[in-house]
Amino acid sequence: MLRDKYCSEVTEKDLGTHLSVAGWANKWRDHGGVIFIDVRDRSGIVQVVFNPEINPDIHQRAHKVRNEYVLQVKGEVRKRPEGTENPSIPTGKVEIIANELTILSDCKPLPFMIEDETDASEFLRYKHRYLDLRRPVIQRNMIIRHRAAKAFREYLDSHGFLEIETPMLTKSTPEGARDYLVPSRTNPGHFFALPQSPQIFKQILMVSGLERYYQIVKCFRDEDLRADRQPEFTQVDMEMSFINREDIISVVEGMIQKVFTDTIGAKIQTPFQILPYHEAMDRFGCDKPDLRFSLELKNVSDIVRDSSFKVFLDTISNGGIVKGINAKGLAGYSRKELDDLTKEVQGYGAKGLAWIKIRNGFESPIAKFFPEQLLKAIAERLEAMDGDLLLFVADKEKVANDCLSRLRNELAKRLGLIKDGSYTFAWITDFPLFEWNDEEKRYEAMHHPFTSPMEEDMEKFMSVDQLDVGARRALPLLRAQAYDIILNGYEIGGGSIRIHRKDVQDRMFQLLNITPEEANEKFGFLLEALEYGAPPHGGIALGLDRLVMILTGAQSIRDVIAFPKTQKAICPLSNAPSEVDPKQLKDLSIKLDPDLL
Ligand code: AMO
Ligand code: AMP
Repeated sequence: MLRDKYCSEVTEKDLGTHLSVAGWANKWRDHGGVIFIDVRDRSGIVQVVFNPEINPDIHQRAHKVRNEYVLQVKGEVRKRPEGTENPSIPTGKVEIIANELTILSDCKPLPFMIEDETDASEFLRYKHRYLDLRRPVIQRNMIIRHRAAKAFREYLDSHGFLEIETPMLTKSTPEGARDYLVPSRTNPGHFFALPQSPQIFKQILMVSGLERYYQIVKCFRDEDLRADRQPEFTQVDMEMSFINREDIISVVEGMIQKVFTDTIGAKIQTPFQILPYHEAMDRFGCDKPDLRFSLELKNVSDIVRDSSFKVFLDTISNGGIVKGINAKGLAGYSRKELDDLTKEVQGYGAKGLAWIKIRNGFESPIAKFFPEQLLKAIAERLEAMDGDLLLFVADKEKVANDCLSRLRNELAKRLGLIKDGSYTFAWITDFPLFEWNDEEKRYEAMHHPFTSPMEEDMEKFMSVDQLDVGARRALPLLRAQAYDIILNGYEIGGGSIRIHRKDVQDRMFQLLNITPEEANEKFGFLLEALEYGAPPHGGIALGLDRLVMILTGAQSIRDVIAFPKTQKAICPLSNAPSEVDPKQLKDLSIKLDPDLL
C-alpha cells in the first residue's frame, strides 16, 4: 500500500508518528516560502506542510505540484500552531510535516475546479465526469447509493428473497414507454428490445415456484427526460407468491426503515398512511402529493355556479371544475407578484389565475361578480383568515388539478413550509384499472395489463358489456389492485397484485382491445406460463435513483448516477450514441434512409 492511512483518519492520536498518505493535491498555497498542500482522497483532506528550513529538497519538489497532481507524502504528524486550526474538518487540528514527496502523476490544467459548488455546465461536467466524480458531494452520493444497495440486499436476503438475473436482450415489455431496440445479426430483420422492466420474467419466476425474487436491475425507457427520469435507470425489483397487498406493504415498509437507518441514520415511522387515488386527486390534485405540508385544494364549483363570473360559469357548463387553494398569509402580494404567479400557472397550462385577497373584506377584480354570501362561502370552504390570498383555476378537471398541484408545491416553497430532513411517505391505492389515452383514443392499463382488478370489482370486470366500454361508461369505475409508494412528492415505487387466472387475463386484453393474436404475439410466453399452475402473486419495483436522490438531498437523479445521460439522452463522456461503421450496419442488414435522418 502506498499509504498508511486515509487522509481524514490522520488525527491527534497520531501526533509524533511518521506516516504516509496518498491522494490528489486539492489546494496549493505558498505562505512566505512555506508551502501548504491539502492532500485529498475519498475520505477527505489532510494538510501537508513543506518547510524549506526543514527539508529544502522536498520543498523544491513541492513547488512543482499543481492542482490535482497525484502525490504520495510521508512525514511527521504535528499539532497545527494555535490559531490555524480548522474545526470544520476531522483533521483540522493536525498537519503532516513532509520529509518525502513522490509525484505519482501530473495533471493538465483543469476545465473546472474540483469543488462542491460549481458553475461548470452540465455538458462540461459530464464530458469530464471522472473530474466531476472527484467532487466530494458527488462522492458522498456514490457512497450513499452503495450503502442503500447493500441495505436492500441484506434486508431482502434475510427475508428469503433470491437475487435472480433476467435477460437484457429480450422482447418488448408493457410499461408504456418507447423501447430501445437492438438488431439481431443472426436473425436479420429481427430486433431485441432492452427491458423497460423485468415484469414478465419475474412473473414467470413465480410460476416457476421460486416464491420470492428480487433484483437490482437496469431498466431502459425511451421517454422524455426530466430531473427525475433517465433513459436507463435502476429498479429494486421484487415479486412474491401466495401473498396479498398488505404483505407487500409490510415487507417494503421494513425495508425502507432499514435503508434509511443504514444510509443516513434516519428513523422512519411505520405504517405509512394509505391514501386512495381519488382522495389524493381531490385533496392534492395529483397522485404523488408532497405530504410534508397540507395546503389542500378545495373544489368550489358548487358555490361559484351561482355567481355571474362568465369564465367560471362557462368552464362548469363545459364539464370543467373550479378549484382553489389558500396561499396562507400572502394577501400582501403586489399586482406584479400576482401577475408573475399567473404567468407561472399559465406555464403549467392554465388559462388564468383568479385571486381574492382577504383584507378587511374581499379584495379582488372578480368580487363584483359574487354576492357577499358567495364570497363568504368560498372563504369558509378554503378556511380563509384575514391576510390570506385565495387562488383559483377553472378548467377541465385534469388541467385544474395539474396546475394547482404544481402551484401548491411552489407556494410551499415560498411559504417555507418544507422542513429539511423530513421524510413523509404514503401508499397511493385503489388506482383506476384503466386510463383513457386521448391522443390514441383508446383505453390503456393504468399500471400494466397484468394488474389484477380489485376483488370487489372482479364480477363487474368479468361481465362488463362491450357497449358500455364503447360508451366509456363502465371502465373508469373499475379499480386495480395497484399501489404506488410516494415520498416527499416523488413516486419512488409502484406495483400490483397480478392476474394469475387465464380467463381474467384474456378478459383484460379483450377490454383493452388487444386481439388474442396480438396478445399472443407480444406476451404469449407469459400467457402460456399462466396456464401451467400459476400461484397468486404480486410485487413492486422501487426507483433506486429517485430514492437515493432524496436520501442525499440531490436536485436531480443525474447527481446519484455515476455516468448519467444529459437531457438529450446522450453521454458526453463516451460520445454515445454515435454513428457506426457501414460494415456493422451491413452485418445487421440495416440500411439508413438519408431522407429520415
Ligand atoms: P413503474 O413503471 O411504476 O413499475 O416503475 C417503478 C419505479 O421506477 C422508477 N422509474 C424511473 N426512475 C428513473 N427514470 C425513469 N425513466 C423511471 N421510470 C420509472 C419510479 C417508479 O415508481 N414493472 C413495474 C413494477 C411492478 O409492477 O412490480 C414497473 O416497472 O420510481
Ligand atoms: P378576464 O375576464 O379574462 O380578464 O379574467 C379575469 C381574471 O380571471 C384574471 O385574473 C384571469 O387571470 C382570471 N382567469 C381567466 N381565466 C381563468 C381560468 N380559466 N381560471 C381561473 N382564473 C381565470
